[in-house]
Amino acid sequence: MKLLILEGFSKIPNNTGKSYSVLRLLEEAKKIDVETVRTNKYDISFEFNDDGPAIKVQGRDIKEFSHIIFRTNFASINFGFSFIGIAKANGVRILNSDSYSMILGDYSKLSQMAILANNGIRIPETYVYGSAERLLKTCNKDKYILKPNQGTFGEDIEVAHQITCEYILEKYWSENILVQEKLPNKVDFRVLVLNGKALGIMQRKAPEEQLVTNYSSGGVVSAIKNRKLEDIAIKAAGALKCEYAGVDIMFSKKDEPLILEVNRNAQFEGFEKVVDVNVAESLIKHLTKE
Ligand SMILES: Nc1ncnc2c1ncn2[C@@H]1O[C@H](COP(=O)(O)OP(=O)(O)O)[C@@H](O)[C@H]1O
Ligand SMILES: [Mg+2]
Repeated sequence: MKLLILEGFSKIPNNTGKSYSVLRLLEEAKKIDVETVRTNKYDISFEFNDDGPAIKVQGRDIKEFSHIIFRTNFASINFGFSFIGIAKANGVRILNSDSYSMILGDYSKLSQMAILANNGIRIPETYVYGSAERLLKTCNKDKYILKPNQGTFGEDIEVAHQITCEYILEKYWSENILVQEKLPNKVDFRVLVLNGKALGIMQRKAPEEQLVTNYSSGGVVSAIKNRKLEDIAIKAAGALKCEYAGVDIMFSKKDEPLILEVNRNAQFEGFEKVVDVNVAESLIKHLTKE
């Protein structure tokens, strides 16, 4: 058994980044004697020749690895598509593999919403327009927020008041924005789901004068229990075929839980701090069990 942890976005070729989740996974893997290699895209090469398609990771054949965990949105950028295809063909077990098979390159918020809505799962009122002009005609109001379709960490989310075409085109690609009803409170919930069960719930509160609650943006976190939220999160993760997911939920004006997004590479630093669960250990054990 040999585990590969892939961090695609690191700008540092020699894997010296300090990602909390990666360090925790390495720590827990070591405890149960799972040999682990941490790498990123700089260490990967593709070879197509008479021996067939191959991937080399730090010069070693991908076949040497039995399991892969992505700790990045790597799968949806650059050579993610080719990487996953060849790794799977070589029998490597990838965490969230079924989800990558369903949506690989365009795991955007819009794609998630389409699948959630098609499965009868409640999401906030949301609009996506093909042009900035069309967007402005309909939605230039304080009751909406703008959110990048491919965003993360709560970045570039703002209330949609007094926006202009120029502003939108400068800040976002027009077709890459969600216009979403502004939900009424400054608290949301992150449920971690693993293998069809909830690991727990982290409540996140936005700091004063801030819209977003993300832990990475200074959200104040605490643990809560709520069976209904867990059940909804499990359903949402299931619809997107995720074995492991961080599901973000906010309540509507009518107190109805709505799914904001289903993260396939959910970080768990804040979660492990406040919820009494060893996420890293649970992940490794789940992935490497027979
Ligand atoms: N419709 C909304 N109304 C109010 N706040 C929102 C809304 N959508 C998102 N937020 C806030 O922004 C944060 C980030 O939104 P999310 O959809 O999870 O995108 P990201 O991928 O950036 O985390 C949420 O955790 C929440 O605090
Ligand atoms: Mg989020």
